[in-house]
Amino acid sequence: MTQNLSTIKDELAQVISAANDLKSLEEARITALGKKGRITDLMKSLGGMDPEERKNFGAAVNMLKDDIAALIEKQEAGLKKQAMAERLSKETIDVTLPARPITKGAIHPVTQTMDELISIFGSMGFELDEGPDIEDDFHNFTALNFPLGHPAREMHDTFYLPEDGDEKGEAAKKLLRTHTSTVQIRHMLGRKPPFKMICMGRVYRSDYDMTHTPVFHQIEGLVIDKAINMGHLKGCLMDFLQAFFEVDNLPIRMRPSFFPFTEPSAEFDMGCSRKNGEFKIGQGDSWIEMGGSGMVHQNVLKHCGVDPNEYQGFAFGLGVERLAMLKYGIPDLRTFFESDVRWLNHYGFDPLDRPNRATGVKG
Ligand code: PHE
Repeated sequence: MTQNLSTIKDELAQVISAANDLKSLEEARITALGKKGRITDLMKSLGGMDPEERKNFGAAVNMLKDDIAALIEKQEAGLKKQAMAERLSKETIDVTLPARPITKGAIHPVTQTMDELISIFGSMGFELDEGPDIEDDFHNFTALNFPLGHPAREMHDTFYLPEDGDEKGEAAKKLLRTHTSTVQIRHMLGRKPPFKMICMGRVYRSDYDMTHTPVFHQIEGLVIDKAINMGHLKGCLMDFLQAFFEVDNLPIRMRPSFFPFTEPSAEFDMGCSRKNGEFKIGQGDSWIEMGGSGMVHQNVLKHCGVDPNEYQGFAFGLGVERLAMLKYGIPDLRTFFESDVRWLNHYGFDPLDRPNRATGVKG
């Protein structure tokens, strides 16, 4: 019997050491230790032996089993090491090769414009905040004084996400934010006044034509303190637009408007001239609409735990693509989202040349 076991051991050891990849090693393991394997068969034969014989033979088979398992493990470790060495030698990089010329990427005009806005508002003392693209009804509508059923909700062409959870109805549904005013709410709820912040990012509305895309970018600003008024709002917009378009004496005009979250509300235009078919930003004979603004509605302040008897201030919002189109002469909004590399090479910016107010934002 002992003789027999050592023969089996030699045979199995040979099969194992002959396995030169993981697949044949697995086959060797099955031959030895699998359900119908040689060692398993030996174990099965124990049942027919008398107790004394079974004890001795059982111990010997167990030892054999352990030895074979150890051999398999050793072979496996060797094969893995060998595979790794082969891979490493194949994947080496010859660092002595001369560098091949690479094409440098370009910064997208939206990113460039947002970087410019951050640098301008940063130098004006604004803090930058951000919020999620997927929002709830409270932050996108209710806190901004659009109660359930308010007709202004319909103007937003909202993308709703499928309902999850047990709660049903409009108020429980998640949505893609339709404006970045959501971030103003999050900003105020998390802090104590005074506030002086900007936020920017993607917003979503179900709309598509020459001047509308289902996703676009907004920048919004919020200033709340004890004696902030519309004069500050106008001055702030003037300073910012002059810095952004690099035009002195840029006139700003405000027209009455309506937003649920501001009272009074105003749309603002900047001066331009359109003489002889040439469009120029600055003092001139014409106006171009830029964005919405107003004094933050008392209900909004209340929703955010700010006492409207003590604090007041303004908010404004603009489209980032619109700013980029006007500054860099990009005619069609839709091209911003088409990912055409030729367009990006034409309108994009040098990644190494980042906007800052010391060297001037780019113009
Ligand atoms: N959130 C508004 C919109 O998207 C823009 C806005 C912001 C208007 C702040 C006024 C004040 O329509």
